[in-house]
Amino acid sequence: MYSMRDKSALQELIESDEFANRLNIDRKTYGLVFDKRTLNAIYEIIKKFDIDYIDFPISSGKESLIFKVKMVKGPDRVLKIYKMSTLKFSNTMTYIKGDYRFDKEKINRTNLVFVWAQKEYTNLVELKKVKANVLLPFWFYKNVLLMSYLGTKSSPARQIKDVSTDMALLYKNLKKQMYIMYNKAGIVHADLSEYNILYYRKKPYIIDVGQSVSIKHPMAEVFLQRDIKNVVTFFSHKGVQCNEQELYNYLKGDKND
Ligand SMILES: Nc1ncnc2c1ncn2[C@@H]1O[C@H](COP(=O)(O)OP(=O)(O)O)[C@@H](O)[C@H]1O
Ligand SMILES: [Mg+2]
Repeated sequence: MYSMRDKSALQELIESDEFANRLNIDRKTYGLVFDKRTLNAIYEIIKKFDIDYIDFPISSGKESLIFKVKMVKGPDRVLKIYKMSTLKFSNTMTYIKGDYRFDKEKINRTNLVFVWAQKEYTNLVELKKVKANVLLPFWFYKNVLLMSYLGTKSSPARQIKDVSTDMALLYKNLKKQMYIMYNKAGIVHADLSEYNILYYRKKPYIIDVGQSVSIKHPMAEVFLQRDIKNVVTFFSHKGVQCNEQELYNYLKGDKND
């Protein structure tokens, strides 16, 4: 356990072997991930929100790191740290350009990752507003996002790919969440799959909405169909009766409120 109350303690933690080992990252990646700006961003968030300590890493992906954090007071939260250097510029720009909410920003390689964090934050705020089952976002600063944690003390909520439950019921509940996302928030997820849906307290939570776009984005329809395909493929394999057309019609229908 490390006290996070001063910067040197944080820096010590990050530079410690234990930390690098727990993250299972090599020195090279580690150097890229925790550059000085990222350290400062983590520090700012820790100060502002009274984070007590970083509990354990939940996920270490290509483009982000997820940590469970302990608050001085209140329930655990999650820090999502977007890696500075691995966001692919042109690929990422596809999801920003054409989204009227973000394409006003002057974007270059340096601030891209900040816009990305802001985009995930904004999407979460909009989804919360319409009462979708999503993570509650608290703040973003630079390339770091603070949100609610789903899980127990010792283990984070599972991705639906690892869950065994009544899959037909889960599909039905997920459809409702997709409906709310599309029709009430006006957002297309654009990377929806069994990896980006968590199962928590018997309900599906759609997560990872950094790339999600407004339904007015010129590629919204393409992204929507891709999401539908991923979801239907997964649930079909699980033995649920479903097909892409049916889900598409459901999402496009206006009689589902
Ligand atoms: N708030 C959270 N609570 C519990 N687990 C989480 C949370 N956020 C992310 N995770 C876990 O970390 C994984 C990666 O997070 P995600 O936001 O999907 O980032 P990435 O862009 O790396 O895929 C998720 O699939 C999920 O298992
Ligand atoms: Mg993900």
